[in-house]
Amino acid sequence: MKHIISPLDLTCNELDDLLSLAGRIYRHPERYSQVCNGKKLATLFYEPSTRTRLSFESAMMNLGGNVLGFSSADSSSVAKGESIADTIRVISYYADICAMRHPKEGAPLVASQFSGIPVINAGDGGHNHPTQTLTDLLTIKELKGDLNNLTIGVCGDLKFGRTVHSLINAMVRYSGIRFIMISPDELKIPEYLRNETLDANNIPYTETNVLEDVLPELDVLYMTRVQRERFFNEEDYIRLKDSFILDNNKMTYANKDMLILHPLPRVNEIATEVDSDPRAVYFKQAHYGVFLRMALIMTLLELPEPE
Ligand code: CP
Repeated sequence: MKHIISPLDLTCNELDDLLSLAGRIYRHPERYSQVCNGKKLATLFYEPSTRTRLSFESAMMNLGGNVLGFSSADSSSVAKGESIADTIRVISYYADICAMRHPKEGAPLVASQFSGIPVINAGDGGHNHPTQTLTDLLTIKELKGDLNNLTIGVCGDLKFGRTVHSLINAMVRYSGIRFIMISPDELKIPEYLRNETLDANNIPYTETNVLEDVLPELDVLYMTRVQRERFFNEEDYIRLKDSFILDNNKMTYANKDMLILHPLPRVNEIATEVDSDPRAVYFKQAHYGVFLRMALIMTLLELPEPE
């Protein structure tokens, strides 16, 4: 039984197969509408979510399966003090697969150690968000045609943004990847990513706090919001929250085929006027998330391609 706790839980070949399956589902969703008949997905969300929870539920329904779950810690027995281990032992009798989001780093890993069903990490604290990253890879692959030889700018909250951490971890496995980190000094990427991922894999990267200066170099710009819920101090959040705002004026510096990705939700970091720019693909990215999660459910449940 396989769990997805980190994007690196899939080998490069497994990742290629997953993205290919997601692409086939995207092009012919009707072929896959019965493959999960009789199967159930549990969504265990201890932290708020719109896209991840609902796209998982939509994915399972598109595959002909059913969903059950909770959308906040308050509406589950964790409010009475139940442990993750006991919760997942019980859920294993009620569902065939589960997606878990939790504010504590490592909670889905703990769940996987006590689970009788595949566990998918749907975001754990500031640590990882593998299904967002897989969605990001699918978006880049479908729209750029390749995941190699890209200069990727990651902008915003690089300290607390788990989607950025997961994306960097996943992209270093491709060749010709270069990162440009765009953040305020206080929100730079954590030391462990610098040492254990970027330096360990000899990945070139530069750092700046001026977005306009680097826009002409980018193939992909990955914007993120400043993660208010991870700050200890509201004053720091207010001071940093609008450090970068991408607008139509700044977009005049960007390449004509640069993609703008954002895991969403957006706060102020992309002006709504940018939404109509063909390079703005963040809503398309959220749509790809459904097909990616359909492919992931099929893969973890080891369901064959329909006839
Ligand atoms: N991208 C993402 O994780 O969005 P939600 O928090 O709405 O699930």
